[in-house]
Amino acid sequence: MTLTYINDELHLNGHSLRGLTEQYGTPLFVYDEDALRNQCRRYHSVFEGESLDYSISYASKAFTSIQMVKLLEEEDMKLDVVSAGELYTALEAGFPASHIHFHGNNKTTEEIEYALEMGIGLFVVDAMDEVALLDRLADQPVDVLLRINPGIDVNTHSYIQTGQEDSKFGLSIQNGTAQEAIDRIHSSNQLNFKGVHYHLGSQISEEGPFLKALEVVFEWLSSTSIDVEILNMGGGYGVRYTEEDVRFPIEEGFSRIIGKLKSLADEYDIAFPHIMIEPGRSIAAEAGITVYEVGVVKDIPGVSRYVSIDGGMSDHIRTPLYDAKYEVLTVDAGEGKNIDSHVVGKLCESGDVIGKNLSLPENIRRGDLIAVGTTGAYHYSMASNYNQMRKPAVVFVTEDNVREVIRRQSLKQLVENDVI
Ligand code: LLP
Repeated sequence: MTLTYINDELHLNGHSLRGLTEQYGTPLFVYDEDALRNQCRRYHSVFEGESLDYSISYASKAFTSIQMVKLLEEEDMKLDVVSAGELYTALEAGFPASHIHFHGNNKTTEEIEYALEMGIGLFVVDAMDEVALLDRLADQPVDVLLRINPGIDVNTHSYIQTGQEDSKFGLSIQNGTAQEAIDRIHSSNQLNFKGVHYHLGSQISEEGPFLKALEVVFEWLSSTSIDVEILNMGGGYGVRYTEEDVRFPIEEGFSRIIGKLKSLADEYDIAFPHIMIEPGRSIAAEAGITVYEVGVVKDIPGVSRYVSIDGGMSDHIRTPLYDAKYEVLTVDAGEGKNIDSHVVGKLCESGDVIGKNLSLPENIRRGDLIAVGTTGAYHYSMASNYNQMRKPAVVFVTEDNVREVIRRQSLKQLVENDVI
Protein backbone atom coordinates (compact mmCIF):
# COMPACT_ATOMS: atom_id res chain seq x y z
CA MET A 1 0.00 0.00 0.00
CA THR A 2 1.41 3.38 -0.97
CA LEU A 3 0.21 6.25 1.18
CA THR A 4 1.71 9.57 0.14
CA TYR A 5 1.06 13.22 0.78
CA ILE A 6 0.34 15.10 -2.43
CA ASN A 7 -0.21 18.84 -1.90
CA ASP A 8 -0.33 18.18 1.84
CA GLU A 9 -3.17 15.69 1.47
CA LEU A 10 -2.88 11.96 2.03
CA HIS A 11 -3.41 9.82 -1.07
CA LEU A 12 -3.69 6.09 -1.51
CA ASN A 13 -2.35 4.89 -4.86
CA GLY A 14 -2.90 8.37 -6.24
CA HIS A 15 -6.46 8.78 -4.92
CA SER A 16 -7.21 11.55 -2.46
CA LEU A 17 -8.60 10.05 0.74
CA ARG A 18 -10.59 13.22 1.31
CA GLY A 19 -12.06 12.83 -2.15
CA LEU A 20 -13.08 9.25 -1.36
CA THR A 21 -14.77 10.25 1.87
CA GLU A 22 -16.66 13.02 0.10
CA GLN A 23 -18.13 10.35 -2.12
CA TYR A 24 -18.59 7.45 0.33
CA GLY A 25 -18.79 9.09 3.76
CA THR A 26 -16.91 8.35 6.96
CA PRO A 27 -15.90 6.12 8.59
CA LEU A 28 -14.65 4.47 5.43
CA PHE A 29 -12.65 1.32 4.91
CA VAL A 30 -10.31 1.71 1.95
CA TYR A 31 -8.46 -1.29 0.53
CA ASP A 32 -5.59 -1.31 -1.89
CA GLU A 33 -6.88 -3.99 -4.22
CA ASP A 34 -3.45 -4.68 -5.70
CA ALA A 35 -2.04 -5.23 -2.23
CA LEU A 36 -4.70 -7.88 -1.59
CA ARG A 37 -3.87 -9.59 -4.86
CA ASN A 38 -0.13 -9.36 -4.31
CA GLN A 39 -0.32 -11.13 -0.98
CA CYS A 40 -2.23 -14.01 -2.60
CA ARG A 41 0.40 -14.17 -5.34
CA ARG A 42 3.28 -14.17 -2.87
CA TYR A 43 1.87 -17.24 -1.15
CA HIS A 44 1.33 -18.97 -4.49
CA SER A 45 4.82 -18.23 -5.67
CA VAL A 46 6.55 -19.74 -2.63
CA PHE A 47 4.70 -23.01 -3.08
CA GLU A 48 4.91 -23.02 -6.88
CA GLY A 49 8.64 -22.50 -6.57
CA GLU A 50 8.84 -25.73 -4.57
CA SER A 51 6.75 -27.74 -7.09
CA LEU A 52 4.40 -28.94 -4.40
CA ASP A 53 0.85 -30.12 -4.44
CA TYR A 54 -0.69 -27.34 -2.38
CA SER A 55 -3.60 -25.00 -1.89
CA ILE A 56 -3.90 -21.64 -0.21
CA SER A 57 -7.22 -21.06 1.49
CA TYR A 58 -8.12 -17.61 2.64
CA ALA A 59 -9.69 -17.48 6.11
CA SER A 60 -12.93 -15.62 5.42
CA LYS A 61 -13.21 -14.45 9.01
CA ALA A 62 -10.50 -11.86 8.43
CA PHE A 63 -12.71 -9.96 6.00
CA THR A 64 -15.27 -11.27 3.60
CA SER A 65 -17.74 -9.82 1.13
CA ILE A 66 -19.00 -10.82 -2.26
CA GLN A 67 -16.39 -8.76 -4.14
CA MET A 68 -13.62 -9.97 -1.84
CA VAL A 69 -14.58 -13.57 -2.56
CA LYS A 70 -14.63 -12.86 -6.30
CA LEU A 71 -11.16 -11.39 -6.06
CA LEU A 72 -9.97 -14.48 -4.17
CA GLU A 73 -11.35 -16.77 -6.84
CA GLU A 74 -9.55 -14.73 -9.51
CA GLU A 75 -6.37 -15.21 -7.48
CA ASP A 76 -6.85 -18.97 -7.42
CA MET A 77 -7.42 -19.10 -3.70
CA LYS A 78 -9.56 -21.59 -1.83
CA LEU A 79 -11.71 -20.60 1.10
CA ASP A 80 -12.10 -21.44 4.75
CA VAL A 81 -15.50 -20.66 6.26
CA VAL A 82 -16.68 -21.01 9.84
CA SER A 83 -20.38 -20.30 9.68
CA ALA A 84 -23.44 -20.56 7.49
CA GLY A 85 -23.05 -16.82 6.92
CA GLU A 86 -19.51 -17.04 5.59
CA LEU A 87 -20.53 -19.99 3.43
CA TYR A 88 -23.54 -18.12 2.11
CA THR A 89 -21.41 -15.08 1.25
CA ALA A 90 -18.98 -17.28 -0.67
CA LEU A 91 -21.72 -19.06 -2.58
CA GLU A 92 -23.50 -15.80 -3.39
CA ALA A 93 -20.23 -14.68 -4.95
CA GLY A 94 -20.33 -17.78 -7.14
CA PHE A 95 -17.33 -19.37 -5.43
CA PRO A 96 -17.13 -23.11 -6.18
CA ALA A 97 -18.41 -25.09 -3.19
CA SER A 98 -15.82 -27.77 -3.84
CA HIS A 99 -13.07 -25.23 -3.04
CA ILE A 100 -14.54 -24.38 0.35
CA HIS A 101 -13.82 -26.07 3.65
CA PHE A 102 -15.79 -25.70 6.81
CA HIS A 103 -14.19 -25.06 10.18
CA GLY A 104 -15.63 -24.47 13.61
CA ASN A 105 -15.59 -25.95 17.07
CA ASN A 106 -19.38 -26.10 17.21
CA LYS A 107 -20.96 -26.34 13.79
CA THR A 108 -24.70 -26.48 14.24
CA THR A 109 -26.87 -29.16 12.71
CA GLU A 110 -28.41 -26.51 10.48
CA GLU A 111 -24.97 -25.40 9.27
CA ILE A 112 -23.83 -28.93 8.57
CA GLU A 113 -27.01 -29.68 6.63
CA TYR A 114 -26.59 -26.50 4.59
CA ALA A 115 -22.94 -27.21 3.82
CA LEU A 116 -23.74 -30.81 2.85
CA GLU A 117 -26.54 -29.69 0.60
CA MET A 118 -24.21 -27.20 -1.09
CA GLY A 119 -21.56 -29.89 -1.59
CA ILE A 120 -18.61 -28.17 0.05
CA GLY A 121 -15.21 -29.73 -0.48
CA LEU A 122 -14.12 -30.60 3.03
CA PHE A 123 -15.33 -30.56 6.59
CA VAL A 124 -12.75 -29.98 9.29
CA VAL A 125 -14.15 -32.08 12.11
CA ASP A 126 -13.40 -30.55 15.48
CA ALA A 127 -14.94 -32.88 18.06
CA MET A 128 -15.84 -36.50 18.71
CA ASP A 129 -19.52 -35.69 18.71
CA GLU A 130 -19.20 -34.05 15.31
CA VAL A 131 -17.94 -37.30 13.76
CA ALA A 132 -21.21 -39.02 14.64
CA LEU A 133 -23.36 -36.01 13.76
CA LEU A 134 -21.78 -35.50 10.34
CA ASP A 135 -21.93 -39.21 9.57
CA ARG A 136 -25.61 -39.28 10.48
CA LEU A 137 -26.49 -36.19 8.44
CA ALA A 138 -24.50 -37.06 5.31
CA ASP A 139 -26.34 -39.07 2.69
CA GLN A 140 -23.32 -39.46 0.49
CA PRO A 141 -19.55 -39.67 1.07
CA VAL A 142 -17.95 -36.54 2.55
CA ASP A 143 -14.24 -35.73 2.76
CA VAL A 144 -13.05 -34.73 6.19
CA LEU A 145 -9.96 -33.50 7.95
CA LEU A 146 -9.61 -33.81 11.69
CA ARG A 147 -8.56 -30.73 13.60
CA ILE A 148 -5.86 -31.91 15.91
CA ASN A 149 -4.38 -30.07 18.81
CA PRO A 150 -0.61 -30.44 18.72
CA GLY A 151 -0.15 -28.89 22.18
CA ILE A 152 2.06 -25.96 21.15
CA ASP A 153 2.08 -22.63 22.99
CA VAL A 154 2.76 -19.61 20.83
CA ASN A 155 3.80 -16.16 21.85
CA THR A 156 0.73 -14.09 20.99
CA HIS A 157 -2.30 -12.63 22.77
CA SER A 158 -3.97 -15.36 24.83
CA TYR A 159 -7.30 -14.74 23.07
CA ILE A 160 -5.76 -15.76 19.76
CA GLN A 161 -3.68 -18.73 20.92
CA THR A 162 -5.37 -21.91 19.79
CA GLY A 163 -2.90 -24.78 19.55
CA GLN A 164 -2.16 -25.26 23.25
CA GLU A 165 -3.44 -28.33 25.11
CA ASP A 166 -6.08 -26.40 27.08
CA SER A 167 -8.21 -25.21 24.17
CA LYS A 168 -11.76 -25.47 22.90
CA PHE A 169 -10.41 -26.29 19.44
CA GLY A 170 -9.49 -29.64 18.04
CA LEU A 171 -8.63 -32.95 19.65
CA SER A 172 -5.43 -33.59 21.47
CA ILE A 173 -2.72 -35.76 20.02
CA GLN A 174 -1.23 -36.11 23.51
CA ASN A 175 -4.22 -37.60 25.27
CA GLY A 176 -5.20 -39.91 22.41
CA THR A 177 -8.55 -38.34 21.50
CA ALA A 178 -7.29 -37.32 18.06
CA GLN A 179 -6.43 -40.89 17.21
CA GLU A 180 -9.72 -42.14 18.61
CA ALA A 181 -11.61 -39.67 16.41
CA ILE A 182 -9.68 -40.81 13.34
CA ASP A 183 -10.54 -44.43 14.15
CA ARG A 184 -14.19 -43.44 14.39
CA ILE A 185 -14.00 -41.57 11.08
CA HIS A 186 -12.48 -44.68 9.46
CA SER A 187 -15.28 -46.83 10.78
CA SER A 188 -18.08 -44.41 9.83
CA ASN A 189 -20.26 -44.95 6.79
CA GLN A 190 -20.00 -41.68 4.91
CA LEU A 191 -16.81 -40.00 6.10
CA ASN A 192 -13.59 -40.22 4.10
CA PHE A 193 -10.60 -39.41 6.27
CA LYS A 194 -8.31 -37.16 4.21
CA GLY A 195 -5.91 -35.83 6.77
CA VAL A 196 -5.34 -33.44 9.61
CA HIS A 197 -5.49 -29.74 10.32
CA TYR A 198 -4.07 -27.61 13.08
CA HIS A 199 -3.99 -23.88 13.70
CA LEU A 200 -1.53 -22.67 16.29
CA GLY A 201 -2.77 -19.13 16.82
CA SER A 202 -2.70 -15.79 15.15
CA GLN A 203 -0.26 -12.91 14.59
CA ILE A 204 2.78 -15.21 14.83
CA SER A 205 5.91 -13.48 13.58
CA GLU A 206 8.38 -16.30 13.07
CA GLU A 207 8.44 -19.82 11.75
CA GLY A 208 9.67 -21.47 14.97
CA PRO A 209 6.25 -22.64 16.23
CA PHE A 210 5.33 -23.92 12.77
CA LEU A 211 8.55 -25.96 12.56
CA LYS A 212 7.97 -27.30 16.06
CA ALA A 213 4.39 -28.27 15.18
CA LEU A 214 5.60 -30.19 12.13
CA GLU A 215 8.06 -32.16 14.24
CA VAL A 216 5.38 -33.02 16.77
CA VAL A 217 2.80 -33.92 14.15
CA PHE A 218 5.11 -36.04 11.97
CA GLU A 219 6.35 -37.96 14.96
CA TRP A 220 2.76 -38.61 15.99
CA LEU A 221 1.70 -39.62 12.46
CA SER A 222 4.58 -42.03 12.27
CA SER A 223 4.04 -43.52 15.73
CA THR A 224 0.33 -44.04 15.10
CA SER A 225 0.68 -45.14 11.43
CA ILE A 226 -1.97 -42.61 10.42
CA ASP A 227 -1.87 -41.90 6.67
CA VAL A 228 -2.69 -38.38 5.58
CA GLU A 229 -3.38 -37.21 2.05
CA ILE A 230 -3.79 -33.61 3.23
CA LEU A 231 -1.89 -31.67 5.85
CA ASN A 232 -3.46 -28.32 6.68
CA MET A 233 -1.11 -26.13 8.73
CA GLY A 234 -3.67 -23.37 9.38
CA GLY A 235 -3.02 -19.65 9.34
CA GLY A 236 -1.61 -17.16 11.80
CA TYR A 237 1.13 -15.38 9.85
CA GLY A 238 1.79 -12.05 11.50
CA VAL A 239 1.58 -8.54 10.06
CA ARG A 240 2.84 -5.09 10.94
CA TYR A 241 0.53 -2.80 12.87
CA THR A 242 3.24 -0.56 14.30
CA GLU A 243 7.00 -0.49 13.99
CA GLU A 244 7.21 -2.79 17.03
CA ASP A 245 5.68 -5.65 15.04
CA VAL A 246 7.66 -8.11 13.00
CA ARG A 247 5.92 -9.44 9.91
CA PHE A 248 6.02 -13.17 9.35
CA PRO A 249 8.62 -13.50 6.57
CA ILE A 250 6.49 -15.24 3.96
CA GLU A 251 9.21 -16.24 1.48
CA GLU A 252 11.98 -17.17 3.93
CA GLY A 253 9.60 -18.61 6.52
CA PHE A 254 7.84 -20.89 4.08
CA SER A 255 11.07 -21.92 2.48
CA ARG A 256 12.16 -23.20 5.91
CA ILE A 257 8.76 -24.73 6.66
CA ILE A 258 8.73 -26.55 3.34
CA GLY A 259 12.34 -27.64 3.86
CA LYS A 260 11.33 -29.07 7.22
CA LEU A 261 8.34 -30.82 5.70
CA LYS A 262 10.53 -32.47 3.10
CA SER A 263 13.11 -33.63 5.58
CA LEU A 264 10.48 -34.98 8.00
CA ALA A 265 8.66 -36.82 5.21
CA ASP A 266 11.99 -38.44 4.30
CA GLU A 267 12.97 -39.19 7.87
CA TYR A 268 9.66 -40.87 8.70
CA ASP A 269 9.15 -42.29 5.22
CA ILE A 270 5.74 -40.63 4.91
CA ALA A 271 4.29 -39.93 1.45
CA PHE A 272 4.34 -36.18 0.84
CA PRO A 273 0.80 -34.88 1.47
CA HIS A 274 -1.13 -32.12 -0.23
CA ILE A 275 -0.23 -29.03 1.80
CA MET A 276 -2.86 -26.50 2.76
CA ILE A 277 -2.48 -23.22 4.58
CA GLU A 278 -5.12 -20.71 5.65
CA PRO A 279 -3.81 -17.16 5.91
CA GLY A 280 -6.41 -14.53 6.76
CA ARG A 281 -4.81 -11.54 8.41
CA SER A 282 -1.68 -11.57 6.28
CA ILE A 283 -3.73 -11.31 3.09
CA ALA A 284 -6.03 -8.52 4.19
CA ALA A 285 -4.70 -6.56 7.16
CA GLU A 286 -2.07 -4.34 5.60
CA ALA A 287 -4.14 -3.79 2.47
CA GLY A 288 -6.75 -1.80 4.40
CA ILE A 289 -7.04 1.46 6.29
CA THR A 290 -9.95 3.22 7.97
CA VAL A 291 -10.58 6.91 7.43
CA TYR A 292 -12.49 8.83 10.10
CA GLU A 293 -13.59 12.40 10.51
CA VAL A 294 -12.58 14.26 13.63
CA GLY A 295 -15.33 15.82 15.71
CA VAL A 296 -14.89 17.00 19.28
CA VAL A 297 -11.37 17.80 20.41
CA LYS A 298 -11.28 18.05 24.19
CA ASP A 299 -8.33 19.44 26.11
CA ILE A 300 -8.08 18.68 29.78
CA PRO A 301 -5.33 21.12 30.71
CA GLY A 302 -2.36 19.42 32.31
CA VAL A 303 -4.01 16.01 31.90
CA SER A 304 -4.63 14.94 28.32
CA ARG A 305 -6.25 15.73 25.03
CA TYR A 306 -9.03 13.62 23.51
CA VAL A 307 -9.54 13.63 19.76
CA SER A 308 -12.91 12.02 18.98
CA ILE A 309 -13.67 10.41 15.65
CA ASP A 310 -16.97 9.47 14.07
CA GLY A 311 -16.59 5.70 14.52
CA GLY A 312 -15.05 3.65 17.27
CA MET A 313 -15.40 0.22 18.82
CA SER A 314 -18.26 -0.61 16.47
CA ASP A 315 -15.76 -0.70 13.58
CA HIS A 316 -12.51 -0.94 15.54
CA ILE A 317 -12.82 -3.49 18.34
CA ARG A 318 -9.22 -4.73 18.36
CA THR A 319 -7.91 -2.02 20.65
CA PRO A 320 -10.65 -2.38 23.29
CA LEU A 321 -10.51 -6.16 23.01
CA TYR A 322 -6.81 -6.96 22.69
CA ASP A 323 -5.19 -3.65 23.55
CA ALA A 324 -3.90 -3.68 19.96
CA LYS A 325 -1.78 -0.74 18.83
CA TYR A 326 -2.12 1.16 15.57
CA GLU A 327 -0.49 3.95 13.66
CA VAL A 328 -2.64 6.96 12.91
CA LEU A 329 -1.95 9.46 10.13
CA THR A 330 -3.55 12.81 9.53
CA VAL A 331 -5.09 13.03 6.09
CA ASP A 332 -4.42 16.75 5.89
CA ALA A 333 -0.77 17.29 6.77
CA GLY A 334 -1.17 19.90 9.49
CA GLU A 335 1.36 22.61 10.20
CA GLY A 336 2.84 23.35 13.58
CA LYS A 337 3.86 20.98 16.27
CA ASN A 338 2.33 17.70 17.31
CA ILE A 339 1.11 16.90 20.80
CA ASP A 340 0.17 13.69 22.57
CA SER A 341 -3.46 12.82 22.10
CA HIS A 342 -5.85 10.00 22.85
CA VAL A 343 -7.85 9.09 19.77
CA VAL A 344 -11.23 7.86 20.91
CA GLY A 345 -14.45 6.74 19.32
CA LYS A 346 -17.96 8.12 19.76
CA LEU A 347 -19.48 5.12 21.52
CA CYS A 348 -20.64 5.33 25.08
CA GLU A 349 -17.79 3.49 26.76
CA SER A 350 -14.52 4.76 28.16
CA GLY A 351 -12.79 1.75 26.63
CA ASP A 352 -13.77 2.94 23.15
CA VAL A 353 -10.23 3.87 22.25
CA ILE A 354 -8.35 3.72 18.94
CA GLY A 355 -5.01 4.68 20.44
CA LYS A 356 -3.56 6.45 23.45
CA ASN A 357 -0.71 8.97 23.48
CA LEU A 358 -0.54 9.30 19.73
CA SER A 359 1.23 12.24 18.26
CA LEU A 360 -1.24 14.47 16.40
CA PRO A 361 -1.12 18.11 15.24
CA GLU A 362 -1.82 20.63 17.95
CA ASN A 363 -4.29 22.39 15.68
CA ILE A 364 -6.33 19.31 14.68
CA ARG A 365 -9.99 20.22 14.62
CA ARG A 366 -13.50 19.25 13.64
CA GLY A 367 -13.73 18.24 10.00
CA ASP A 368 -10.14 17.01 9.74
CA LEU A 369 -9.64 13.43 8.65
CA ILE A 370 -7.40 10.79 10.12
CA ALA A 371 -6.43 7.39 8.72
CA VAL A 372 -5.81 4.35 10.90
CA GLY A 373 -3.45 1.87 9.24
CA THR A 374 -3.54 -1.93 8.97
CA THR A 375 -7.27 -2.30 9.48
CA GLY A 376 -7.96 -4.65 6.58
CA ALA A 377 -8.39 -7.78 8.72
CA TYR A 378 -10.64 -8.35 11.74
CA HIS A 379 -12.08 -4.87 11.57
CA TYR A 380 -15.01 -4.80 9.19
CA SER A 381 -15.57 -8.49 9.93
CA MET A 382 -15.71 -7.79 13.67
CA ALA A 383 -17.84 -4.67 13.29
CA SER A 384 -21.07 -4.46 15.24
CA ASN A 385 -24.12 -2.29 15.49
CA TYR A 386 -23.46 -1.41 19.11
CA ASN A 387 -25.07 1.94 19.91
CA GLN A 388 -27.01 1.30 16.67
CA MET A 389 -23.94 2.44 14.78
CA ARG A 390 -24.09 1.71 11.08
CA LYS A 391 -21.40 -0.46 9.52
CA PRO A 392 -19.27 1.72 7.25
CA ALA A 393 -18.81 1.46 3.51
CA VAL A 394 -15.84 -0.39 2.02
CA VAL A 395 -14.07 0.63 -1.18
CA PHE A 396 -11.39 -1.13 -3.23
CA VAL A 397 -8.89 1.14 -4.94
CA THR A 398 -6.39 0.45 -7.70
CA GLU A 399 -4.28 3.02 -9.49
CA ASP A 400 -6.96 3.73 -12.04
CA ASN A 401 -10.12 2.54 -10.37
CA VAL A 402 -12.23 2.99 -7.26
CA ARG A 403 -15.14 0.70 -6.57
CA GLU A 404 -17.49 0.45 -3.67
CA VAL A 405 -17.65 -3.16 -2.54
CA ILE A 406 -19.87 -2.76 0.52
CA ARG A 407 -22.30 0.11 0.93
CA ARG A 408 -22.70 1.86 4.24
CA GLN A 409 -25.56 0.39 6.25
CA SER A 410 -28.66 2.52 6.19
CA LEU A 411 -30.67 3.60 9.21
CA LYS A 412 -33.54 1.56 7.86
CA GLN A 413 -31.43 -1.59 7.82
CA LEU A 414 -30.86 -1.16 11.53
CA VAL A 415 -34.50 -1.90 12.21
CA GLU A 416 -35.31 -4.16 9.29
CA ASN A 417 -35.72 -7.22 11.48
CA ASP A 418 -37.63 -5.42 14.17
CA VAL A 419 -41.23 -6.37 14.59
CA ILE A 420 -43.27 -3.21 14.36
N1 LLP B 1 -7.49 -21.02 10.28
C1 LLP B 1 -8.15 -21.17 11.43
C2 LLP B 1 -8.68 -22.47 11.79
C3 LLP B 1 -8.35 -20.07 12.28
O1 LLP B 1 -8.99 -20.24 13.42
C4 LLP B 1 -7.85 -18.80 11.90
C5 LLP B 1 -8.05 -17.64 12.75
C6 LLP B 1 -7.19 -18.69 10.66
C7 LLP B 1 -7.00 -19.82 9.88
C8 LLP B 1 -6.64 -17.40 10.15
O2 LLP B 1 -5.69 -16.87 10.99
P1 LLP B 1 -4.88 -15.56 10.54
O3 LLP B 1 -4.02 -15.94 9.36
O4 LLP B 1 -5.88 -14.54 10.15
O5 LLP B 1 -4.12 -15.18 11.73
N2 LLP B 1 -9.97 -11.65 15.84
C9 LLP B 1 -8.59 -11.94 16.10
C10 LLP B 1 -8.07 -13.06 15.26
C11 LLP B 1 -8.80 -14.35 15.47
C12 LLP B 1 -8.28 -15.43 14.60
C13 LLP B 1 -9.08 -16.65 14.72
N3 LLP B 1 -8.71 -17.70 13.84
C14 LLP B 1 -7.76 -10.66 15.88
O6 LLP B 1 -8.34 -9.65 15.49
O7 LLP B 1 -6.56 -10.65 16.12
